[in-house]
Amino acid sequence: MPPTTRTLPNIIITGTPGVGKTTHCTELAARTHLHHLDINAIVKQHNIGEASTDPDDPTTVIVDEDRLLDCIENELEDGGQIIDWHACDLFPPSLIDLVCVVRCENGALYDRLKERGYKGKKLEENMDCEIMEVLLQEARDAYDADIVVELRSDSTADIDSNVDRIVTWVENWRKDHGGGELEAQDAGKKDEDDPMFLHG
Ligand SMILES: Nc1ncnc2c1ncn2[C@@H]1O[C@H](COP(=O)(O)OP(=O)(O)OP(=O)(O)O)[C@@H](O)[C@H]1O
Ligand SMILES: [Mg+2]
Repeated sequence: MPPTTRTLPNIIITGTPGVGKTTHCTELAARTHLHHLDINAIVKQHNIGEASTDPDDPTTVIVDEDRLLDCIENELEDGGQIIDWHACDLFPPSLIDLVCVVRCENGALYDRLKERGYKGKKLEENMDCEIMEVLLQEARDAYDADIVVELRSDSTADIDSNVDRIVTWVENWRKDHGGGELEAQDAGKKDEDDPMFLHG
């Protein structure tokens, strides 16, 4: 793959519904000058989703992935995007620098989904998705193993440490790709170089 000319990386934050993707993306966007690319919002804005015809699950939206890619192609080419979505294999590997698969302990996820009103088949399917590591496998099948990292999100302390690690990774990526220091609020709070990051 030719080296990228982007000076800001694109990061996917993916995982089963309810694991904490949006919570991570919001915090990460606040800590860096990367843009939170909320795919749910893009789907609504461009009207590219259709309600599922499954009578047990009418609230699920089926997204036209080709149209979605058309909508975000320019932003991905510019770089600096934090992609927030419960699928990941549709994004071209040449435009993706890091894939974070957020994971959650089963009991905690069950409580979060129940609190949202998920029940029956929908609750069961989402729990199975997490237990069977569907998103982790999808990420590993679609991207180089080197750029896929699994992050636990069981407690609020996990969010802080995960975001610290990603901020450090972004700083290192920028240095390696001709960018300067991050200019956002508290970037650099954790300045140690952690070469084991992607394996941690
Ligand atoms: N690490 C965590 N510790 C405690 N609570 C968390 C954690 N991560 C997320 N939560 C809580 O879980 C709920 C779901 O989080 P969030 O909306 O970020 O998940 P999501 O993965 O974006 O879900 P969706 O796929 O539906 O968009 C929220 O109420 C959030 O506050
Ligand atoms: Mg979300």
